[in-house]
Amino acid sequence: MVYLTRKEHFCASHRLYNPKFSEKENLEIYGKCAYPNGHGHNYELEVTVVGDPDKDTGMIMDLKKLADLIDADIVDKVDHKHLNVDVDFLKGVIPTAENLALVFWRILCPKITAGRLYSVKVYETPDNFAEYRG
Ligand code: NI
Repeated sequence: MVYLTRKEHFCASHRLYNPKFSEKENLEIYGKCAYPNGHGHNYELEVTVVGDPDKDTGMIMDLKKLADLIDADIVDKVDHKHLNVDVDFLKGVIPTAENLALVFWRILCPKITAGRLYSVKVYETPDNFAEYRG
């Protein structure tokens, strides 16, 4: 099996906040990430598919097709948006890196038909990222 990864980038703002907690509790749980008007990140998104390269093409899937899929279904919808308010598929989701990885997986998984989706990694900063493998 070979693992094939496409990396994409997007910029977005978010606020980590759960309305079922008090303001004080939110600040205790999320720290600066709970400040009322949100803040931005330069996100990186890594999508990995796994499979056996086709005998004739040498490819698991066309990376251009994978890039187009990620762009159309995710990046175009989250780039330069406020994740808490502007993105339909994130309504009611606390936009942590963990939850973004989960939601992006659910969107992409059914669309990967050559090979299979192996992992979705969401980097919120170069040091902090979440990975979901289904
Ligand atoms: Ni943040």
